Order: sequence, then C-alpha cells, then structure tokens
Amino acid sequence: MKGLVLSGGKGTRLRPITYTSAKQLVPVANKPVLFRAIDALREAGIDEIGIVVGDTAAEIRNAVGDGRRWNAKITYIPQEAPLGLAHAVKISRDFIGDDKFALFLGDNCIEGGVNNLISDFASSDRNAQIVLKKVANPQQYGVAELHPDGTIERLTEKPRQPRSDLALVGIYMFDQHIWEAVEAIKPSWRGELEITDAIQWLVEHGYRVYPYIHEGWWIDTGKRADMLDANRLILEELTPYVAGFVDRDSQLVGKVTIEKGAEIINSVIRGPAIIGEDTRIINSYIGPFTSIYHHCVVEESEVEHSIVLENSEIVRIPHRLEDSLIGRNVKIHTSPMKPRAYRLMLGDNSEVGLL
Ligand code: DAU
Repeated sequence: MKGLVLSGGKGTRLRPITYTSAKQLVPVANKPVLFRAIDALREAGIDEIGIVVGDTAAEIRNAVGDGRRWNAKITYIPQEAPLGLAHAVKISRDFIGDDKFALFLGDNCIEGGVNNLISDFASSDRNAQIVLKKVANPQQYGVAELHPDGTIERLTEKPRQPRSDLALVGIYMFDQHIWEAVEAIKPSWRGELEITDAIQWLVEHGYRVYPYIHEGWWIDTGKRADMLDANRLILEELTPYVAGFVDRDSQLVGKVTIEKGAEIINSVIRGPAIIGEDTRIINSYIGPFTSIYHHCVVEESEVEHSIVLENSEIVRIPHRLEDSLIGRNVKIHTSPMKPRAYRLMLGDNSEVGLL
C-alpha cells in the first residue's frame, strides 16, 4: 500500500500563524502535526508516501525533505489551488497507480495510530474504508448515517441539520475504484470536489465501503483550542526523558521532557510538559500541558496550557500566560520605557487578552 498526505489548503482559522507558515507544520508536543501523520503511515509499514502541497510547498519540502529521516520515499504532488480533497486525490493518480492507498489529512491527529486499520484493509476485499467518530458538533464535518446493521446509508459533507453524530475522521483507505468516483462527482456548493461525495458515489454504486468507529480521541487541529487540546492529549501519552541540563535549584514534577541542549535554571516545570532543544527556562514556572519549542527563552515568567513556537522570548511578564498559541520569533516582555503603556506590534488577525 501507498500513503497520501494532504498538506495544501489555506489554514485560515489559525491566522496570523498561518500567514507565514503551513498549518500542518504547527507543532503539538514539539512535533509538527504533519510529521505525526507520516510517523503513523511508517508505523503501519508504508514507505512510499505522496504529499499534496499548495502555496506552502517550499516550507513543507524544507521541513520534510526526501523522507530519509523516516526511511521512506516522499513524492511531492503540487496542487494549483485548494479545489477539494477529492481533487487532491485525483491529481495523485500517477503517483498511486493501481495500488491500494491510505489517505491522511495532514492536520488530523488520532490516538493510537492506524496499524490495525491499514493491515485489515490491505488483506480485505473492501473497496474503501472510512473512520468515524462520535462528536458533539457534526455539522462541522462530513457526517455518516448508518443502517441498523452498521453498514453505510449515506454520507453528507457538513450538513446543516446532521442526521447522525458520526463524523468522518480525516483518514481513509481506497482501492482503484476511487478513480471512477473522483472522475464522476461534481464540485459542491463550496466549489470543492469533496471526498465525502466520492465515497458516497462508491456506496451508491454498490462498492464495499467499510465504516470503522474509532473509540479513542481524534482532533482536527484547525483552530487554537483544537491545537491546545491535541497538545494536552499527546503530552499525556509521551514517555518523558531529560536530555538537557537541569540545575540543582530547579524542580521537574510529573511527566516532563527536556530535549537536547535545553537549560532549566532555578525554575519549576510541572508536567506534562516539553521543553525543546536549546531552549532556556530561567527563574520561571512552566505549568502542565505546555510545549515550548526549540531556541526559545522564558525568563522570570509563568506559562501554562500553551504552545510556544521556535525562537520566541517571554521575559519578565507580570501575569501568567495561559491558553495561548505563540508563533515563531515572537517577543513578549515588560518594557522600562516611560510612559507606562502597552507597546504592541501584532500581525493581522492577532488576538491579545490583556488584564
Ligand atoms: O478533519 C475531518 C474533516 O476533513 C472531514 O470530516 C470532512 O468530511 C472533510 O471534508 C475535511 O473537512 P475540512 O473542511 O476540515 O478540510 P480542510 O479544508 O481543513 O482540509 C483538510 C486537509 O487537507 C488540510 O490539511 C488541508 C488539505 N487540503 C485541503 C483542500 C481543500 C489540500 O491539501 N487540498 C485541498 O484542496
């Protein structure tokens, strides 16, 4: 089997961070969501992986490279515009050929990997397999209605009045019949070729589409709150280690990972938390569910339930930072300049909650 990861699209709900970078590269627990998708495919034994890329192609190529790090062969498939998930599949036909494949949305995080799902599908005579999860807000997703015997009755993309609470998770498996489906469907009301419509086409034409109901957690990391949730859940699962320096005046409590080259000086880190490579934490408190990425500085400050991206500095801030997603190269500090005032330089669509 081959793997196809979709990493194009716009990421509008994570602006301003996604003005300058791909949403799939925002790290949760210090690893980009896209890398977690590649890890999952590799763990399932798939080593030929295509990545569909859009406007952020250069950045994604830069981060992922040729796949050597995963011992995999990566092929990039440029998509001229985000014309839909089924469009992204359609343009990947040369790469996939007649093989069966697993399709992974590059912004989805799922508990427990996909090994069993993929091996079940590979050895079955099913034409497609989908993953469903009960959710509270099904109107935001593709929605599946099942017959009483558990087979699929109907799939609808983001219905206004959902007739079930089973959402389509962004992990799918197909055989070569998907090519007929993506050729046959027409763009939806939002102008996209929907993968949900392609699978509905398979169902209507008598192909075997198997719905698997996922019991663990699943997060589509489109928004800040989702990123923080995924960060919390993954940090809880992480096996902690200390590869950096922790001085004698510091305290690590619970599951705390300190990556290579990091320095913890006179600080308390209460896990689950992760401190990235070459990051320095000085006279500070880092609270649970926090991921600080590489080359950051936190000095005389408190941070909890937050994600901080690389090269950022949080210095001498008087109140604890919570529930925050801080981008790259951000500087937050108190200033001695008079008059006492907030001096901000924020990108478009930034959000700041002041006391
Ligand atoms: O997360 C699960 C949901 O994903 C499903 O329940 C829906 O049925 C499915 O349509 C999809 O909905 P979204 O609206 O959340 O998809 P989004 O536009 O966020 O795109 C998902 C990923 O695919 C994202 O990493 C960007 C990438 N993408 C998206 C489009 C539209 C592409 O690479 N090319 C595209 O044309």
